[in-house]
Amino acid sequence: MRKKIIAANWKMNMTVNEAKSFLDTFVRELGDESRAEVVVIPPFTALAEVSNRLTDVQNVKLGAQNLHWEKSGAFTGEVSAAMLRELFVRYVVVGHSERRTLFGETDATVNKKARAALDATLKPIVCIGETLAQRDANQVEQVLEMQLKGSLAGFSAEELQQMVLAYEPVWAIGTGRTASPEQAQEAQAFIRKTIATIADPATADKIRIQYGGSVKADNASALMSQPDIDGALVGGASLDPRGFAEIVKATCKLQD
Ligand code: 13P
Repeated sequence: MRKKIIAANWKMNMTVNEAKSFLDTFVRELGDESRAEVVVIPPFTALAEVSNRLTDVQNVKLGAQNLHWEKSGAFTGEVSAAMLRELFVRYVVVGHSERRTLFGETDATVNKKARAALDATLKPIVCIGETLAQRDANQVEQVLEMQLKGSLAGFSAEELQQMVLAYEPVWAIGTGRTASPEQAQEAQAFIRKTIATIADPATADKIRIQYGGSVKADNASALMSQPDIDGALVGGASLDPRGFAEIVKATCKLQD
């Protein structure tokens, strides 16, 4: 059985002080719950402090929101995989739709970032998902297949098994408009089927696929109980420590 993975993508929110106070409450609310894997993904400025605070917390891991594919050099404003590793970052989001739409990321750059992450033993969380116009034009499968093939080109089956995929329909992000459990399941079953053709059925069976887009405490159970939904990438609702703990706990209940 795939262990579910719930991640808090804070996006451009949380100062260092806010992150500290989030963790105080969240770690207490979570207790020793470890049936699902939990990842907190702060902005770069809060990574070091959150990393320090998680030193003695076994059941919460650290993630980053982005990285550059080069090892070092004249890339003003960018952060390398080694810089993240030094802070005990385990996961890194690549290809989030906000980065694709607002900052010009393409499947080709996502591919280079995922490669740089894996080479530094960071696990990429590779985001894919269609826009509303693409859904309305019946292009969901075509778009997902193109994003998967482009973003995951050149990886071996073993490498793919290290990754997490996140299906985030663009129309459901920050809009309060969640994909129905059936819509998400249908897309995610298709993603898994595509991984079986890119790699093999055993890899498709192992890889975890998160859903992201307006996940909240009151819709988490219905989404997380779908067979091909292996966790959530939570934006807005992950900023509240109690609400995020509720999402984690609702998911943990399904792991028994
Ligand atoms: P919301 O949960 O705010 O819709 O954001 C989803 C997301 O983009 C997570 O990466």
